[in-house]
Amino acid sequence: MKLVMVGSGYVGLVSGVCFADFGFDVTCVDVDESKIARLETGQLPIYEPGLDQLLAENVQAGRLRFSTDLAAAAANADAVFIAVGTPSRRGDGEADLSYVFEAARQVARVAKPGTVVIIKSTVVVGTCRKVKEIIAAERPDLDFSVASNPEFLREGSAIEDFMRPDRVVIGVHDKRGESILRRAYRPLYLRDSPVVVTTLENAELIKYASNAFLAMKVTFINEVADLCETVGGNVQEVARAIGLDGRIGAKFLHAGPGFGGSCFPKDTRAFAATGQRYNAPLRLIEAVISVNEDRKRRMAARILEQLGSDARGKKVAVLGIAFKPNTDDVREAPSLDIVPRLIEAGATVVAHDPEARKQAQAVLKGVVWAEDAYEAAEGADVVAVLTEWNEYRGLDLKRLAKAMRGNTLVDLRNIYRPEDLEETGLFYISVGRPSLGEPRRQQASVQAV
Ligand code: UDX
Repeated sequence: MKLVMVGSGYVGLVSGVCFADFGFDVTCVDVDESKIARLETGQLPIYEPGLDQLLAENVQAGRLRFSTDLAAAAANADAVFIAVGTPSRRGDGEADLSYVFEAARQVARVAKPGTVVIIKSTVVVGTCRKVKEIIAAERPDLDFSVASNPEFLREGSAIEDFMRPDRVVIGVHDKRGESILRRAYRPLYLRDSPVVVTTLENAELIKYASNAFLAMKVTFINEVADLCETVGGNVQEVARAIGLDGRIGAKFLHAGPGFGGSCFPKDTRAFAATGQRYNAPLRLIEAVISVNEDRKRRMAARILEQLGSDARGKKVAVLGIAFKPNTDDVREAPSLDIVPRLIEAGATVVAHDPEARKQAQAVLKGVVWAEDAYEAAEGADVVAVLTEWNEYRGLDLKRLAKAMRGNTLVDLRNIYRPEDLEETGLFYISVGRPSLGEPRRQQASVQAV
C-alpha cells in the first residue's frame, strides 16, 4: 500500500516512519523545505529516542521518502493521512483547523478514485464530516472516503506507543475506510492490539476525552499534594495506594509543577470550548485548566520564597526546561511560566537541560546556560528541579551542595528520596511531602554571572 503523511511534525514523522517499518511505501510531506531537506539527509528536526535509527533503516530499505510536493505524493496514494498541527486559536482556545482544511483541499485536487483521506490530527468533533464536505465540493466527481485515526503517542516514548498501543481507534463512515485502516494496522494484530471501529464523531471525541481525562488525573493528584503539604501527608504514598485500585490505576499520578506540552494544554482548552459551543459545558475540564495555570504561578512563588524578601542578587539553578524528560519540546512547559517570574523578581537564573536548550533559547530570554547540573549549581542560592531527567536522579547531592552558595533544593518532580539527602546539609523541599533539613539564608551579594 502507498501511504502519504501530510505534516512531518512529532505525530506525522513518527507515524510515517512506523508505517514504513510495517512494510508500507510511505512519503512524508511537509511545507517546510528546510525540514524536508534535513530529513532527506537523515537529520531529525525533533528529539525522539530511537527515531533516527528507525528512519535511517526505512530510508535505506527504500520504503520511506520525504517531499514538499503534496500533489505528486498524494496523486497515487491509497491512503493520505493528514497530521498537520491544530494549535489553540488565540482568545477562545478553540482548535485552529485551517491547516487541516487546506491540506484536505490540496489532497482533493489530486486524489485518485478510491482514496481514503485519514485525519490523524487532533480535531474537534464534526471536523471529519466537514473535511468530507470540503473534498466533495472540490471534486464532485471523486469517489473517496474519509476516516479518523487519532494518535495516542507520548513524546519521548512515541515509537513504543505506536508499536504497542493500548488500542487503535478507527472512525469511519464506510467499509472502505475501515478496510484500509485495518490493513494499515495489520502488523499490530500479531500483538493483539485492540482495534476500536466506531463513527467519525466518536473517534474525534475519544481523543479529546482521553487527553482531558489524563490531564484531570494529573491535576487531581497535584491538588491532593497541596493538601498533603498542609496536613503532613506524603502524596507519593497516597498516590501509590489509590493507584493499586484497578479502577484508578497507578499511571499519571505523579504530582509535579503542572502539566505542559503541545497536547494537554491545547486539548483541554479545545475540549472545554467544544462543551461551551454545544451547550454541554465540561466544568471539570474548565477547572483543570484554571487549576493548572494557577499551579505553575504558585510553583514559581515556592522557589521565590526561598530567596528571602528580595530576590535581587540571588541566583537560582534550574535543572530541566523541557515539559517532560526524553524530549526537546518546551511548548507550554511549566518552566516557561516559572523562569520568567524568577527573572522578573530580580533573580539570576542559570539553566540546564540535556536536550531542550536549543528549543528553549528561542523562547526563554535572560537565562544563563550551563553545560551540566553542577556548573549550574555554582554559587546558587537555590537549585530547582523542573524536569525529571534521569541524569538528575543520579546527581551527587553532596557535590551539588558544595558548589552552591545557599543550601536549598526545590524538587518539583519528587525525584529524590529522604535517604538521598542524608549528610548533604541541604534544605529539601518537594511536592506533597514534608520538607527535610534547615534553610541557610544568605545576604544578597552574589557577583553578576
Ligand atoms: C500526551 C498523551 O499522554 C498522549 O497520549 C497524547 O497522544 C499526546 O499528549 P505528551 O503530551 O507527550 O502525551 O506527554 P505526557 O507524558 O502525557 O505528559 C503530559 C504532561 O503531564 C507533562 O507535562 C507531564 O510532565 C505531566 N505529567 C504526566 C505529570 O505531571 N504527572 C504524571 O504523572 C504524568
